[in-house]
Amino acid sequence: MPAPAGGRAPSLDKDPRRIAGMFDAIAHRYDQLNHLLSAGLDRRWRRVAVDALELIDGDQVLDVCTGTADLAIAATAAGVPRVRVLGVDFAAEMLLLGLGKLRAAGLDGQIRLARGDAARLPCATEVIDAVTVGFGIRNVQDTAAAIAEMSRVLKPGGRLAILEFGEPRMPGLRAFYLWYFRWVLPQIGRWLSRHTDAYAYLPASVSAFLTPDQLAALLEQSGFTEIRVERLSFGVVYLYVARKVAEPPTVD
Ligand SMILES: C[S@@+](CC[C@H](N)C(=O)[O-])C[C@H]1O[C@@H](n2cnc3c(N)ncnc32)[C@H](O)[C@@H]1O
Repeated sequence: MPAPAGGRAPSLDKDPRRIAGMFDAIAHRYDQLNHLLSAGLDRRWRRVAVDALELIDGDQVLDVCTGTADLAIAATAAGVPRVRVLGVDFAAEMLLLGLGKLRAAGLDGQIRLARGDAARLPCATEVIDAVTVGFGIRNVQDTAAAIAEMSRVLKPGGRLAILEFGEPRMPGLRAFYLWYFRWVLPQIGRWLSRHTDAYAYLPASVSAFLTPDQLAALLEQSGFTEIRVERLSFGVVYLYVARKVAEPPTVD
């Protein structure tokens, strides 16, 4: 990917302290920029992800890389009774903003937030009914370790929904979108967040991340089945839905 307009190529170093520091620094503008830069589509993408999980009464949901808790909130907004959510993230400022939103909405009894790393989830083994990850998996230093953790905490048969950015394939649309994503979005992001790199890191990290086929293959290798990959908004975002195998394969 070429260097963004007016700048050097952003670092793709995913050291946890660096990534947490970057999200802490943009936390105050994160929600506003999300809604602005996606033209409000981010809310719809989260709703589609939650619907795909087909939550049932009393489900325990874990939202990994919860940030300001929008996907955790979406999980409770589906109206399924007694759903409980734990949101985990390592960026304290993102969690603080999320907590404020939960308190304002009276959801702090239903959604809890905890500081933690996706590669070492603060959960017991096989206690979670559904795991969600919204636009977080691409930022994790060791994707395979994080997916193995999600598999560990899920009950057998538990569901997983991952939202991640992609790049549309349709020729005309692709060219327009890449111009927007690589040139326009970083400028608006830099201007509003006052962070030099974060919104140039976004398109660069999407281009460098696993392809949808590679991520689906990794899910399969990590003990997931019934893997479905759905393109949302012409492939601007991909939704990955999977189920943890009900019984581990027997070894002869
Ligand atoms: C782009 S934001 C997404 C936030 C939220 N899920 C949403 O849908 O808006 C990515 C979040 O992932 C978190 N994150 C990245 N890597 C992480 C890791 N290894 N462990 C925990 N959180 C991580 C960041 O701190 C950030 O809050």
